[in-house]
Amino acid sequence: SVSSIAQSPPTLQVATEPTFPPFEMQDQATGDLIGFDIDLMKAIGEAAELNIEFISLPFDGIIPALQSNTVDAAISGMTITAERAQTISFSRPYFKAGLAIAVQNDNTDIQSFEDLEGKRIAVQIGTTGAQQASTIEGATVSSFDSASLALQELINGKVDAVVNDGPVTLYAIKEAGLQGVKVVGELVTEEYYGIALPKDSPYIDDINNAIELLIQNGGYRAVYQTWFAG
Ligand code: ARG
Repeated sequence: SVSSIAQSPPTLQVATEPTFPPFEMQDQATGDLIGFDIDLMKAIGEAAELNIEFISLPFDGIIPALQSNTVDAAISGMTITAERAQTISFSRPYFKAGLAIAVQNDNTDIQSFEDLEGKRIAVQIGTTGAQQASTIEGATVSSFDSASLALQELINGKVDAVVNDGPVTLYAIKEAGLQGVKVVGELVTEEYYGIALPKDSPYIDDINNAIELLIQNGGYRAVYQTWFAG
């Protein structure tokens, strides 16, 4: 009968914006996508018996691609927000993050979110950092295609601060050797990353169950250790 024929697993096209180390980035030598999200998604694919094919997209193109079903899912350090959840679905949270403020090393007048009033701020386009920065009175916000370009603008002294995901800015400074900038104050927000899916996705339960399984069987921990061991 038809049902006894071995089916090859479905292939999921999974979008990511790969300039966000250690969550997603390109291996300098091979060009391959690597990072926490990439390893986690591969592990989810194995657990849920789904082939995973990654597609690189600009961050502000990911939600439109999900809405038009051009891709089946996205893993991109994407914060679960109520606003986004009106147009797309999210898996259960898989990582706790939050926004951090970065300034030049010798800056002493910016220590908290309130101190950003009237300042020049760089952000990555379409992110929660961009959203938060847009609420600051009198601030001039410049948007960049990647968080690293926003940080470069800060190093060049063209802006006073960058508002970006804390784990990513800290990784750039501590692990990737970014010089001349520091993180100030506490995390500005508490955010949770989720895998994003089209509203009517048939894969949401498979993905949630796979995340649960990986948390229970140590698979999640192994991926975490690979990228956040230090
Ligand atoms: N967590 C932030 C957001 O959801 C930033 C994510 C940016 N991700 C990326 N791969 N560039 O808006």
